[in-house]
Formats: sequence, structure tokens, C-alpha cells
Amino acid sequence: MLYLLILVVLACIHQSVSAGFQLSGDAGVRILLPKRSSFTKQDGTFDHFKAVKHTTKIVNKYRQNLLNFQLNFGTFPPGFVSLPPLAAYPEEELERRQKEPLADEEDDVEWAGNIKIGTPPKTFLIDFDTGSADLWIPSSSCSHCTSSKSKYNNSASSTGAQKSGAFEIRYADGSNATGPIYTDTVTVGGVKATGQYFAAVTSESPNFAQDPIDGVLGLAFPSISRLRQNPFFVTASAQKSVKDDAFAFKLASNGSELYLGGTDASLYKGAVEYHNVSSTIGYWIINGASAEVNGKSAVSGFDTIIDSGTSIMYGPPAAVQAFYKAIPNSKLYDKSGGFYTFPCRTPPQVAFNWGGKSWTISAENLNFGETEQGSGECVGTLAGQDLGLGDNTWLLGDSFMKNVYSVFSFSKNAVGFAALK
Ligand SMILES: *[C@@H]1O[C@H](CO)[C@@H](O)[C@H](O)[C@H]1NC(C)=O
Ligand SMILES: *[C@@H]1O[C@H](CO)[C@@H](O)[C@H](O)[C@H]1NC(C)=O
Ligand SMILES: *[C@@H]1O[C@H](CO)[C@@H](O)[C@H](O)[C@H]1NC(C)=O
Ligand SMILES: *[C@@H]1O[C@H](CO)[C@@H](O)[C@H](O)[C@H]1NC(C)=O
Repeated sequence: MLYLLILVVLACIHQSVSAGFQLSGDAGVRILLPKRSSFTKQDGTFDHFKAVKHTTKIVNKYRQNLLNFQLNFGTFPPGFVSLPPLAAYPEEELERRQKEPLADEEDDVEWAGNIKIGTPPKTFLIDFDTGSADLWIPSSSCSHCTSSKSKYNNSASSTGAQKSGAFEIRYADGSNATGPIYTDTVTVGGVKATGQYFAAVTSESPNFAQDPIDGVLGLAFPSISRLRQNPFFVTASAQKSVKDDAFAFKLASNGSELYLGGTDASLYKGAVEYHNVSSTIGYWIINGASAEVNGKSAVSGFDTIIDSGTSIMYGPPAAVQAFYKAIPNSKLYDKSGGFYTFPCRTPPQVAFNWGGKSWTISAENLNFGETEQGSGECVGTLAGQDLGLGDNTWLLGDSFMKNVYSVFSFSKNAVGFAALK
């Protein structure tokens, strides 16, 4: 059923494109994204707990994506090996957080921006996530959701409607986010989707409750939607709210932007190098990648998921071990977290290549900081981790995306990279 829906939608999108919409130009909508904080503390050292906490969230997100796929298709995706156990947050982190006032917690590790839901519209601060496919925000009837968060009240929106069924995801420390399903008008920048499905959660785990953002807007494919519905951008495209059914990110410490409806030519130079999305498992996944260290291929022939909702880069543990082996004097720092160090004074030159240009990661974007002040050992932004994606799939989060202009095109069914201006 969902398969059919996807096919129909893809066919519609295809039709609207061939019906003569411009594929480029400056007709899209810019959403400014505030700076994302890093895993480096103010004294320049690696914030280990924060990084492990993020890894926990990402492991659970991909676990949930696998469950969503299974729900939609009755089977796990091809190449599936096993469902990783639900990861729990480290206890030290929980303790530490209890001692910290929320205002001090500059823990905003998402690229957040504003969206509006309902009539009259209510504003939500949202994580734009190319690694998941649902929209969810807190509900006004969530009694323990942090009071500072924006909440959705269906009775207060003249365009809202409750749908049957319930949303449930498990993302952290054994808790679930659950809540009813609604449709309503969702606007991002000037791009509007009417009758958009989303969940308003009435319960959420303490870890999510601490997060300054209100919710998540998934930008991946319908196959991994827990709501079993089209995500926002697919709905907006089908309703012809955008000229080109592509969106693009510039993620940087300054001037970050999500562009809906094509690419923002003012932010990149040269051509966009496109690579076809290589499977239908629901991710923005491209194959034939190689990881280069100091100009030589260290690991090659793997698949990469480009995920704006992930800060760290992850690869299968054995592949990441081979990668760091190519870096002189690198060392394993934390086996369970999968983190490695390299000498701060001689950072390696690292690049990813998909058969075209080599896209270099700057020394800054490769480095989470020193293990301790003066140690001279810097923690790399690529970690080895089993995310249940098999032994040939890497996850390139913003430590990679910050180095390029990245384009996600439904009409081309491709991910593209271009050089930032
Ligand atoms: C939701 O909106 C309705 C209608 O405006 C209002 O009566 C109700 O108190 C609101 N509920 C909450 C929890 O804010
Ligand atoms: C969380 O999900 C599990 C598994 O689906 C379920 O057994 C459990 O009852 C849920 N817990 C809550 C509080 O909803
Ligand atoms: C950020 O961008 C603005 C506008 O382009 C510029 O004026 C400013 O110098 C930049 N700041 C940094 C730290 O690069
Ligand atoms: C990418 O997909 C397009 C459309 O399906 C196809 O024409 C093209 O040959 C593909 N390119 C590669 C390199 O596979």
C-alpha cells in the first residue's frame, strides 16, 4: 500500500518536473539555521560525554528507521544483519546533566530552524534531519514536556484534524515518544504543505525533554516513515509548492542555510557533482565511496548515507580501524564509543571521493579537540560504530557536510556536492 503511494507520488513528481518546471534558478526559499555547537569544550578539549550521548541518539535513530522500514514493507531491508540493542545513555552524563542548569546547556547539536504548524500558525524550532522521515513536535497535552517548548494544540487550529492510530518511537534510554497523529498545514519558509501528517507527542524521554529544540522534521524518503505517510517535502512537492523538488544545505559555523526548491547559487561555485541514490531503503545513500588519507585511498567501495541530523561521521568498526591505520601515530581512544586520536600538530588530510572530485574535510572539521589540555592528541570526527547498517555503510554527518554545499534532489534521485563559495 505504502509502496503504491510512493510510486504514485514519485510519478506525480516526475510529471510535474517534465511539465516544465525550472530545475534551477533562484525561486526557492531560504531557511536560516543558527550555529550548531560542537563536541569541543571552551578550553579546546573533547566533550566526550556529549559525543557519546549523541552516538546513543544516532544508534537509536537508525534502529528506529529499521523498525519503520519493517513496519512498511513487512521485512527488513536487503543486507540487514541484526537489530542493534536499544542503546542507553551513559550514567555519568545523566549525573552531570542533573547538576547543570538548563540555560547553561549549550547542547544544541541540531541544525535548527523555524517551521509553522496550524491556523493560526504556531512556530516550532525544528531539527531538519535528512536521516529520518517523520515530523513530530510536543503536544499541548504533554504534561511533562519542558514548559519552554512550543506545543501543538489541535483544538486551537482550524485546519487541524486528528487521524487514527498512534505514533511511537523509541529513541533513548528505554523511553518512548508516543502521541496521536494529526494532519494540518505546515509551512517552512514560504513552502506550504496542507494536510501534512505529523505526530504531537504526549510523552517524551527526559533526554529529549532537555533538548532545546521542539521537534524533528524528517527529510528522508517515505519508506522509513513511522507515520507511513509522505514527509513534509514530498507533500509540498506533490502540491507544487516548490519549483524544483530538491533542497540543499549549507552547514557552517556562520551563515548556515537550508534552501527549499532547488539550490542557492549564491552559496556555491562550480558545478554540482551528482551521485544517484543507490537503493530504495529510504535514505539519501550513494555508493562507490572511498576515504582518502594524505592523498591515498585508505578504504574504498563503501556506501554512504548523508545525514544532516548526525554530527559525527560513523563507519563500521573494522573499516574505521583501517582508516586510522593509514594515519601515522593515530590511536584508539575509546573502544565502545569508537573514537580515535591523531597528533594535533600533524592533522592528516582527509577526503571522500565518489568517483569525481575529492571532497576534503578541513582540519577543523576533522577535529573534536584535544583529549586533555596539552595532551597533543586530538579526537577525530570519524568514529567506528555498528549502526545496524551492515559492514559496508558509512554515515556522513555534518562533520562532512560542513565542507561542501550538499543538494538532495528527488527529481534526479541523487545527492550532489559543490564547492562552497
Ligand atoms: C487547546 O485549545 C482549546 C481551544 O482553544 C482550549 O480550550 C484548550 O484549553 C487548549 N488546551 C491546552 C492544553 O492548551
Ligand atoms: C514502549 O514500547 C514498548 C515496545 O513497543 C512497549 O512494550 C511499552 O509498553 C512502551 N512503553 C510506553 C510507556 O508506552
Ligand atoms: C559571518 O557572516 C557575516 C555576514 O556574511 C560576516 O559579516 C561575519 O564576519 C562572519 N563571521 C565570521 C566569524 O566569519
Ligand atoms: C543515474 O540515474 C539516471 C536516471 O535513472 C541514469 O540515467 C544514469 O545512468 C545513472 N547514473 C549512473 C552513474 O548510474
